[in-house]
Amino acid sequence: MKDQIQRRRFIKQSLAAGGSMFFMANLTSLKAEKKIKNILANETLQTIHNLRTIHGNFSKKNLTHDQIRDIVDATVQAANSSNIQTYSIIVVKDRQKMQNVCGYQGGCMLVFCADHNRIHRSAKYLGYSYHSDNIINFVTATMNTMLAAQTAVIAAKSMGIDSLLTNGLHRGDMDRVWKILNLPEKNCFPLIALILGYPTEEPVYNKGRLGGVGVVHHETYHSLTEEDLDEITAAYDDHSTHLALNPDWDKQGFSHYQDWLYRDWLDEASNPINQETQMFQLLKRSGYVDLQNES
Ligand SMILES: Cc1cc2nc3c(=O)[nH]c(=O)nc-3n(C[C@H](O)[C@H](O)[C@H](O)COP(=O)(O)O)c2cc1C
Repeated sequence: MKDQIQRRRFIKQSLAAGGSMFFMANLTSLKAEKKIKNILANETLQTIHNLRTIHGNFSKKNLTHDQIRDIVDATVQAANSSNIQTYSIIVVKDRQKMQNVCGYQGGCMLVFCADHNRIHRSAKYLGYSYHSDNIINFVTATMNTMLAAQTAVIAAKSMGIDSLLTNGLHRGDMDRVWKILNLPEKNCFPLIALILGYPTEEPVYNKGRLGGVGVVHHETYHSLTEEDLDEITAAYDDHSTHLALNPDWDKQGFSHYQDWLYRDWLDEASNPINQETQMFQLLKRSGYVDLQNES
């Protein structure tokens, strides 16, 4: 009963906060597509609500030249700071290369890198010097790069092509990514790989998202109360929301989904770091976190 009340309140708050939790709880079910068609007003919204990750089980079918061109053409339409597109996209069709770069393979891979090399080269070519060696430029380039990556995901889905965004390229020896893709060591940093393709099996359901308290704040930041945390816990525990990465958490003996999340899934990544990571070393090499570097 308490659970029911909590869930009702969560949904009510989410509706007040823009309605997305209500939609998510209902739209990410097995019948998502049908319901989306009934509820959502246009094809763009339907495409966005139909997005789902294929966790590596892509078929052998490759993307055609025209499909890749159309996706890339749409990708570069993303908003970007000063319209200088401080990113590079490496298009990879070689499946073994995909595997070696990020641990997954599919019909095509796009690797998205924050990158100022084109800007540097153009400036120098015209007799200017441009310096981008600082964290501000890296953060801005990261925003540009990730907006492009998500635009690619949406464009692909609108063409019936599924996707997997992965930071697998940051696992293991990261320097391999520079070597395999011949990336410049300076002013370039690979952020994410996007595998595109067709699934070998349909996911059973699309995952839901939190869309209310703790995610969306109104006018000012709202610090979570214990009541809010109860609601979030209940939302994760409610199987119908499909928020869980592991839907079998309760069968595995956990009282709450988040017990599984923090104990099993996030456990390793949450260890305190007691030495400089390779990522930090490579960021320093790139120049993006060292104000003293000359470009
Ligand atoms: C930065 C980032 C890294 C990710 N890395 C992986 C990954 O290495 N392997 C994987 O299977 N999914 C990966 N994902 C996909 C997420 O697991 C997925 O988006 C999330 O579980 C929600 O599922 P959905 O996209 O199907 O709604 C990644 C997503 C992002 C944004």
